[in-house]
Formats: sequence, structure tokens, C-alpha cells
Amino acid sequence: MKALVLAGGAGTRLRPITHTSAKQLVPVANKPVLFYGLESIAEAGITDVGIVVGDTAREIRQAVGDGSAFGLNITYLPQEAPLGLAHAVLIAREYLGDDDFVMYLGDNFLIGGITDLVEPFRVERPAAQIMLTKVSDPRAFGVAELGMEGRLVGLEEKPAEPRSDLALIGIYLFTPAVHDVVADLKPSGRGELEITHAISGLLDAGHRVATTITEGYWKDTGSVADMLQVNQLVLEQMDPGVQGDVVDSELIGRVAVAPGAVVRASRIVGPAVIGPGTVVEDSYLGPFTSVAEDCQITDSEVEYSVVLRGAAIRGVRRIEASLIGHEVEVTPAPRTPRAHRLVLGDHSKVQICAYS
Ligand code: TTP
Repeated sequence: MKALVLAGGAGTRLRPITHTSAKQLVPVANKPVLFYGLESIAEAGITDVGIVVGDTAREIRQAVGDGSAFGLNITYLPQEAPLGLAHAVLIAREYLGDDDFVMYLGDNFLIGGITDLVEPFRVERPAAQIMLTKVSDPRAFGVAELGMEGRLVGLEEKPAEPRSDLALIGIYLFTPAVHDVVADLKPSGRGELEITHAISGLLDAGHRVATTITEGYWKDTGSVADMLQVNQLVLEQMDPGVQGDVVDSELIGRVAVAPGAVVRASRIVGPAVIGPGTVVEDSYLGPFTSVAEDCQITDSEVEYSVVLRGAAIRGVRRIEASLIGHEVEVTPAPRTPRAHRLVLGDHSKVQICAYS
């Protein structure tokens, strides 16, 4: 059995971060979201992994390498444009050969891994096995309609009037039967080869598609709000530990301070994680905050946020529910004139406190 991990795509919902970096590499508790998926694949006993890459191929290759750090054997599969999830299967046809495979969306996050899903599939080998979960607003997802005894009746992509509240999770298992269906797919209204159409095509051809409804935590980390929620969840379960220097400071609850980090004259309320080489001084870091490596946080307050490598936050209160990119600087403007001074990349989003 092989794995096909999708790490291309446009990532429009995470702009501007995705102008310069891959969304699958945005860290959750200071580890790229993609790595959690790769670890789950390795845990399920799968070693051959094809990673579909697009414009951000260079960064993905740099981060994952040959996969040996995960115990995996990685092959990179370039996709010329993000033409859909089923298009990724199409271009991987040769790599996948006649093997069964798990397809894993590189920005999806599933607590508990995939072993419980993969093991019965290996034995029963339905043409496809999909995972479903209840969501409050199914209109943003692929939605499944189940009939008698939980049998899959149909799938709809982002329906305006969903027939159920069961969303399709971005982890699917297939036998090679899917390739014939994918080869015949036509682009959808949004110009993509849809994986939901491929699964419906398997049903239409009389194949069995098995469904598993999971109660476990799953999130597609495609937006900032989702990213922050996943970060919160992982931090809540993280092992705390102080390896860096903590001087004249108060650490409360689950706090991890990496080797080479310095926390001085500050108060950190966990769960929170501070990356190597980062300096936190005269500051307050609130719950659910991940600060990556080589950042500087001075005389500031930051809560429920993710701060990426090399960012500097000085003299700012208070930052909340934010995703701060690599090497970003956030500082106060000079006192006069009373104005905001902004140098923002394309598609940046700034929400300024109305009374400041
Ligand atoms: P999506 O989140 O559905 O698409 P996207 O990355 O284009 O994001 P946005 O909607 O914000 O523009 O993709 C799910 C995963 O699959 C993600 O890891 C990107 C990857 N992907 C590919 O590798 N190739 C593709 O053709 C598509 C559509 C997605």
C-alpha cells in the first residue's frame, strides 16, 4: 500500500502567508501541519509516499527531504496547476501503479491517526473507503448522503442545500479501481477534477464505497480561524518542558520553552510554546500561543496566536487571534501624527482596534 499526500494547491484562503510559503508548512504547536499527516502515515505502516507539489515544491522538498526523518520513502510528483484533488490522482497514476493507496490532504489534521482506518481496509478492500464527520455548516464541504445501514447513496461538493450534516474528511482509501473513473472525469463548474465525482463514479460503476463516521477531532486548516483552533487543541495536549533560559519570569500551566530560547521578565500563561532562538522580554504571552524560532517579543502582549519564524513584535498591546508571518515586524508608530503606518503585502488582512 502507498500514500498520496496532496501538498500543492493555491491556498487562497491563507493569503498572504501562501504567497511566499506553503500552507501545509504553517506550524501547529511549532511543527508543520503536514508533518502530523506524514507521521500518521508512517504509524499505519505505510512507507512509500508520493507527495503532490505545486508552486511551493521547493519549500516542501526542503522541509520533508527524502522522508527518512519520518521513516518514509518520498517521491515528489509535480502538478502543473491546482486542477483538483482527482487531478492529483491522475498525475500520480504511474507512481501508484496497481497498489492500493491512502490519499491524504496535506493541510488536513486528524487526531488519532489513520491506523484504525487502514487496517480494516487492507482486509476488506472496498473500492473506496471514506471518512465522514458531523459539521455544523456542511455547505463548505463535500457532503455525503447515507441510505439504509449507512450505505453511501450520493456525494455532493459544497451543496447550497445539503442533504445531511456529514462532511467528507480529506483522507480517503482507494483500490486501483479509482483510476478508470478518474481517467474519464470532466472538469466541474469550478474547473477542477473533483474527488467527490470520482467516488460517485465508483458507486455508479457498481463498486462498493465503505463509509466510516468518526467522532474524532478533524479540521481542514485552510483558513486562519481553523489554524488557530488546531493550534489550541494540540497545545492543550502538548508535553510542557523548559529547556531554554527562563529569568525573572512566571510560567503558568503547560509551557514549553525550546533550547536556546530566552524568557526574561515575562509572564507566560500556557498552553504556549516558544521556539529555539526566540527571545521574550518584558512581555505577556497568553494561552494558545505558538511562537516559532528566532522571534523577538519585547514589551508586548500576545494571546491565541501563531507567530512564524523570525518575526519581531515590540511595544504592542495587544495581539489576539492572529497569524504573524515569517520575518514580520509589528511595532508602534511614532507618537505624532497619530496614525497607523502599514507596509502590507498583497492580500494581507489587518484589523485595527477601533479606539486606538
Ligand atoms: P484545498 O484546500 O481544497 O484547495 P487550495 O489549496 O487550492 O486552497 P484554497 O481553497 O484556500 O485556495 O486543497 C486541499 C489540499 O490539497 C491542500 O493541501 C492543497 C492540495 N491540493 C493539491 O495538491 N492539488 C490540487 O489541485 C488541489 C485543488 C489541492
